[in-house]
Amino acid sequence: MSATPLSIRPAVDADRVPLARIFAAVVEEDAGLGTEPPVDIDARAASWTLDGTLVAVVDSEIVGSLHLDASRHGYGELGMALRREWRGKGIGSALLSAAIEDARTRGLHKLSLSVFAHNEPAIALYRKFGFVQEGRRVKHYRRASGELWDTIDMGLLLL
Ligand SMILES: CC(C)(COP(=O)(O)OP(=O)(O)OC[C@H]1O[C@@H](n2cnc3c(N)ncnc32)[C@H](O)[C@@H]1OP(=O)(O)O)[C@@H](O)C(=O)NCCC(=O)NCCS
Repeated sequence: MSATPLSIRPAVDADRVPLARIFAAVVEEDAGLGTEPPVDIDARAASWTLDGTLVAVVDSEIVGSLHLDASRHGYGELGMALRREWRGKGIGSALLSAAIEDARTRGLHKLSLSVFAHNEPAIALYRKFGFVQEGRRVKHYRRASGELWDTIDMGLLLL
């Protein structure tokens, strides 16, 4: 990571619109996220679940976020996205590291996620933190284009 000061903090109400805008921009890339365009930014902002969301902030601007959905069964499901221009600088690693710490604090025993099989940057990030592949769902997502995309389920035990 460069000298750019980065902070990771829990999301607050005022973050809703920036979070929704980043989400919509990443959805437009049609590569990493399950949702497809168009995204209704106001609706997404209003429905964003702040509890469990961490934001990455550089120079007072949100550049990405991670959501950890803690289940009643001891595992947490992760999702994350960064603005394109802020990728490859260690910010995803910083978010994931903070989320793992949070998960341990909450007493979760496992983190899990699904990722498109072609999403090499995301898979590399998860592997770096010790996530392992637990399964593959073949032709699982039908996209608006008609393409059928595989997903990989990954898990990280925190025991
Ligand atoms: C996935 C994502 C969050 C990664 O965040 P990031 O800040 O770019 O990741 P980092 O810079 O911390 O990189 C972590 C590791 O991933 C690997 N990596 C990063 N970019 C990569 C790329 N383009 N190709 C291959 N590996 C890559 C590196 O090995 C890096 O490890 P290192 O620190 O030892 O070099 C980011 O690419 C993103 O927002 N993508 C779009 C949304 C998305 O796909 N979300 C995940 C849905 S499951």
